[in-house]
Amino acid sequence: MTLPALHRRAAELGRALARGSAGTGFVPTMGALHGGHLSLVARALRAHERVVVSVFVNPTQFGPREDFGAYPRALAGDRRLLGSLGAGRRLLLYAPEASDVYPAGFATAVAVGGAAGIRLEGEFRPGHLAGVATVVARLFALVRPRAAYFGLKDYQQYLVVRRLARDLFPGLRVVGCPTVREDDGLAMSSRNRYLDPVARMRAVALNRSLLAAAEAARGGERSVRRLRRAALKVLSRVPGLTVQYFDIADARTLEPLRILDRPARALTACVLKGTRLIDNLALEPGKGDARRA
Ligand code: PAF
Repeated sequence: MTLPALHRRAAELGRALARGSAGTGFVPTMGALHGGHLSLVARALRAHERVVVSVFVNPTQFGPREDFGAYPRALAGDRRLLGSLGAGRRLLLYAPEASDVYPAGFATAVAVGGAAGIRLEGEFRPGHLAGVATVVARLFALVRPRAAYFGLKDYQQYLVVRRLARDLFPGLRVVGCPTVREDDGLAMSSRNRYLDPVARMRAVALNRSLLAAAEAARGGERSVRRLRRAALKVLSRVPGLTVQYFDIADARTLEPLRILDRPARALTACVLKGTRLIDNLALEPGKGDARRA
């Protein structure tokens, strides 16, 4: 197995990329890689001669009482997992120190506006989306990819990054890739490592609540209030689970909806025994009677 070349400094990574042709694909991560990340890397490898995976636990996207310190760090294992993809020298791993990403004097913060930039995660994790936008902008500037790959599991993040790229990095394509799920439907996430066996079993409720809303929508229900009610019923049965939000919003903008009259996204964030989990699903208006709204 060939491990991907490990670069700790952007300057050195830049020299390695300059030796190849153009057309770098980029998969930014915070490490503790799982099947979801590997699917992004595999997708990028199909489209680009070179793919850079960054592993950087970005301090600016964590609130003061969040899990920055506890966030799993597993660089050696991550490197082996990437090596198992068999991409050899086509894959480069950029795992910088904080000082490479935020050198002394760094004083820029990027904030994306619009509903996607401020609602939901923006309300429950103040500063989080700006921290993501700032680090992603900085990584785009360092890696200069042609396309960047993001999981739709973090749907709001995907919309924020897409807006950021359109506004500041013309020509850079942001590709949203499907959520990868465990056999029981739980969305893969590095934070699933925090769950004890009981919490792990209960965590599947997030996906089930989204499916309940999607099924009601397919059956013709158009009232967002009633769709939410169907989903919240599922979540309310789970001991120890607190719902932060269950929202149904315009899939493109994340503006709130009252009637399901366009492509929409159901999004939820729940806390289960101290672990915060998020998930989301596309909702398509069904062919039912719109008067039921
Ligand atoms: O999704 C993540 O892992 C992070 O938010 C990202 C995009 C790597 C920025 O730190």
